[in-house]
Amino acid sequence: MTAAHAPIDVPWWRRGVVYQVYVRSFADADGDGTGDLNGLRSRLPYLRRLGVDAIWLTPWYESPLADGGYDVADYRRIDPRFGTLDEAEALIAEAHAQDLEVIADLVPNHTSERHAWFQQAIASPPGHPARDRYLIRDGKGLDGSEPPNDWTSVFGGPAWTRLDDGQWYLHLFAAEQPDLNWENPEVRDEFDAILRFWLDRGIDGFRVDVAHGLAKDPALPDLGPDREGLLGSARPANHLHWDRDDVHEIYRRWRAVLDGYEGDRMMVAEAWVTHDRLPLYLRPDEYHQSFNFDFLEASWDAEELRTVIATSVSEARAVGSTPTWVLSNHDVMRETTRYGLPPGTDWRAWPATGPHEVLDPEAGTRRARAAALLLLGLPGSAYLYQGEELGLPEVWNLPDEVLDDPVWERSGHTYRGRDGCRVPLPWEAAGPSLGFGDGKPWLPQPPEFRALAASVQEEDPDSVLNLFTQALQLRRKWGIADEEIELLDLGPEVVGYRRPSGLTCVVNFGPGRVELPAHRQILLVSSPPSVTGATRLEPDTSAWLV
Ligand code: BGC
Repeated sequence: MTAAHAPIDVPWWRRGVVYQVYVRSFADADGDGTGDLNGLRSRLPYLRRLGVDAIWLTPWYESPLADGGYDVADYRRIDPRFGTLDEAEALIAEAHAQDLEVIADLVPNHTSERHAWFQQAIASPPGHPARDRYLIRDGKGLDGSEPPNDWTSVFGGPAWTRLDDGQWYLHLFAAEQPDLNWENPEVRDEFDAILRFWLDRGIDGFRVDVAHGLAKDPALPDLGPDREGLLGSARPANHLHWDRDDVHEIYRRWRAVLDGYEGDRMMVAEAWVTHDRLPLYLRPDEYHQSFNFDFLEASWDAEELRTVIATSVSEARAVGSTPTWVLSNHDVMRETTRYGLPPGTDWRAWPATGPHEVLDPEAGTRRARAAALLLLGLPGSAYLYQGEELGLPEVWNLPDEVLDDPVWERSGHTYRGRDGCRVPLPWEAAGPSLGFGDGKPWLPQPPEFRALAASVQEEDPDSVLNLFTQALQLRRKWGIADEEIELLDLGPEVVGYRRPSGLTCVVNFGPGRVELPAHRQILLVSSPPSVTGATRLEPDTSAWLV
């Protein structure tokens, strides 16, 4: 299923642009305020016009949505709010007909508490085999009233919840997400079957949730002072429950399943691990790729980003993979807002802690536009998050009463959570939910979304949407046929690189204008110049030259 515009000998994922669809917030066809598969089907032509190669859909499975669908009750059914299995199959077929590959989200670390297995487990007595599919243990203390160990949930609070019969179950995330026991052969067999179920329906790849978390130290010892903060990034190697060597056996099994299918089926790991450990996930019999979150975590700083680019390219090359580039996803603050905060701000905490007056939205938008060209000219694949192509800001000030992310409650209201990047998309400048659907959207859209609606931006040649559309067209022509890059030395405040095709990207991070290197033609500039005919690159601006 290689996209028609790709060089035939390169698998699509090695250089594709993947667009992440947060299904709940993309497009709502039935007017219930929640996005759905039919809404997405109706918008496939938009994605085709934008020029992406693939879509990754966040979990579409039956779920109580305690964590936006990352709490799966049935891995073989589509949640009725999103649609039906027939609609999922139609979506896959229609996407393929438009040369779009389809990546599903696989959630193997935990199920929902509503999953039949967990219901069986809690209905069975301690010691029953149904309990062994999860990590269920006696508590500590004389009456077992203390949790089995001191692990904490990524979302805040303890990682253990007590059952009515006195035993405790482990959940590294919300209490509604019990962790599976990957030592149990039934769990392993079940996930092989789930992969086949979706591969048989034409799925081209899987984004694997929490790929660094499946294996736990079987003795479940205390972590002691090593406990990390909430929502942290890189994890130490062979931690008691992150990045353990045992996870790799699972991925070798899955790779063998994928390799049994025709076409370029792939899997991409969401593995928050240290640099030295990432290559282990990318061995030829494991993952095809892994997200690289370094670009996303870096500040708007020339030296930092230059280092990230150089390291990511050489590390991917060393293991025969290609780099992946990510600026945004459904778990992080949108970059238009992130880049508008002073360097060094803890943007995960900032919506709750402030100070809010430090935000400079104009600078943020300008830098996000510049970052788009920086990212899209690089070799390898790029992952875009819905709304990034519209330059949407983070809605960091949603009213408390609409917050849905379990992080808000579990952190004792110290983190406002991730809802601010999950607000339903504005498609039109008018209507009850700005073209998202006919009903009241599940999260309210702020007034500034009106001017950023897709239909408004389509008409404006200088819009963010047009910048992305042009960049993706040019990328196809100039940037994808090879995987090489030469970093240019253009001074401390400038990041520049040249691709063998001749495409040169220059980004000005400094406060003054800079001279462009010699070129025949300027293909694209991230923000219109303030002075017509200017030949120097303005601050917080990038350009593509040949
Ligand atoms: C997903 C999150 C989710 C968590 C637990 C993550 O890495 O991207 O959205 O809350 O896994 O499944």
